Amino acid sequence: MSIRLGDIAPNFQAKTSIGEIDFYEYLGNSWGILFSHPADYTPVCTTELGKTALLKSEFEKRNVKVLALSVDTLEKHSGWINDINETQKTSVDFPIIADEDRKVSTLYDFIHPNASATATVRSLLIIGPDKAVKLIITYPASTGRNFDEVLRVVDSLQLTANYSVATPANWKEGEDVIVVPAISTEDAIKKFPKGVKIVKPYLRYTPQPNK
Ligand code: BEZ
Repeated sequence: MSIRLGDIAPNFQAKTSIGEIDFYEYLGNSWGILFSHPADYTPVCTTELGKTALLKSEFEKRNVKVLALSVDTLEKHSGWINDINETQKTSVDFPIIADEDRKVSTLYDFIHPNASATATVRSLLIIGPDKAVKLIITYPASTGRNFDEVLRVVDSLQLTANYSVATPANWKEGEDVIVVPAISTEDAIKKFPKGVKIVKPYLRYTPQPNK
């Protein structure tokens, strides 16, 4: 099944490194990140899961629950987690799905047969508290994802959800943001007391509202 932005992320039950979970119960009202890896005991995945564990407080600050997936067994996950903790100087405590039967990988279209018939690609979804899919990225097996960029997208999505602003190219925390087109300039001036800079009628900046 192919999943697109705005679709409701389908629920599932799965075996994970912290026990059996129901995806929706695990997420609760939080934001979620579901991300797939080609296999256990592979070098790039080891660094990605280590980086995710090291960013634990950043995900918590943003109310994001993280859930990883690999198509190997729970036994393999458990030995690999020890290696990740040792080599990446961290402690992986988020769940990793043991998707041996490819049930979740198939549901989320994580296997791209022309890349590999059996291994999952590096896909990552950000899911909102409404369970709608907000971001989908897919990387090849040989390229590790940039988790600072993932956090930056979470920040952008949360600004849009909470303040009706968008973020410009290469935006970084603390920089000016863009008033969404749905808000009239008259309303924007009332809504953003820090000021609205009108460059064009459709391009209006305001200081980051939550700073
Ligand atoms: C990996 O670590 O998963 C990987 C590295 C290089 C090529 C393919 C996969």
